[in-house]
Amino acid sequence: MQDKQAIIDRINVLKKEKNVVVLAHNYCRGDVQDIADFVGDSLGLSRQAVEQPADIIVFCGVDFMAQSAAILSPEKKVLIPDMFARCPMAAMATADEVRKAKKQHPDAMVVSYVNSSAEVKAKSDVCCTSANAVEVVNSLDCSKVLFIPDKNLGDYVARNTGKEIIFWDGYCPTHNHMLESDVASSKEAHAGAEILAHPECRREVLEKADHIFSTTGMTGHCSSSDSKEFIIATENGLLHRLRKENPDKHFYPCSEYAICPDMKTIDLESVLDCLEKEEYEVTVGEKVRTQAKKALDRMLEAGRS
Ligand code: 13P
Ligand code: SF4
Repeated sequence: MQDKQAIIDRINVLKKEKNVVVLAHNYCRGDVQDIADFVGDSLGLSRQAVEQPADIIVFCGVDFMAQSAAILSPEKKVLIPDMFARCPMAAMATADEVRKAKKQHPDAMVVSYVNSSAEVKAKSDVCCTSANAVEVVNSLDCSKVLFIPDKNLGDYVARNTGKEIIFWDGYCPTHNHMLESDVASSKEAHAGAEILAHPECRREVLEKADHIFSTTGMTGHCSSSDSKEFIIATENGLLHRLRKENPDKHFYPCSEYAICPDMKTIDLESVLDCLEKEEYEVTVGEKVRTQAKKALDRMLEAGRS
């Protein structure tokens, strides 16, 4: 195994030589976040992919995130360092299943969370993120919505809009595993801390939280809040960024087990390999890409991210 600093130095040389921008999701390993040019949520990173004048995007995240970058920036080469970094929740809805569900509910509009495949996005009327789901659903000129694939985010939307929501039986294993008892024990250990929860968590966890935010919402709130202690109910990779940006504050995971294995497969070695070999390239066929882009563009018109 090469020395860590030597790997980082080589990554930096290749980034310059090949005009590469490295994007890392908030849930990535800390050392991968540290070598990235931008760290953020999935949609924010896809926007960076569009805006950055790079020839190559190295997307440190999972499959659907790199696909979104490829959908929005077809002229750039999009690479993912580990082809097996796949979101299990996104895999809980296939295009064929969505096609069948649309037949069953012809009067419903289809809203897909960005955590979905390009093929599912292509079958959707509009996409949403955890930050803008309520706003996007409210903007629709219909009373019924088929919400794909996260039933927890769907439940949160249902409680915050006047629309009838038809739920999909999908969920994020990492967030869904957090229980009310995890919130209770972390609150007992850190009584003065504010509790922030991601809407992919179960309702019982959200009901105990002081605030419900996407990962980007959490970073903004923790910087501006006067509180010094926070219990974070999302994937624990976010704690690295929160601690780095707020060295005077304390952050505690709601559960030590809130770790998404797919977000951890990418490490410094695989990033270097990816830069050297220019693999694994993520592409989306043109027909699916243009249809999926319509759903993403409609989201950008309807809501903030
Ligand atoms: P964001 O809140 O950053 O969009 O991420 C949620 C998530 O689970 C991504 O996999
Ligand atoms: Fe998918 Fe959940 Fe992992 Fe995000 S944290 S990539 S939603 S399984």
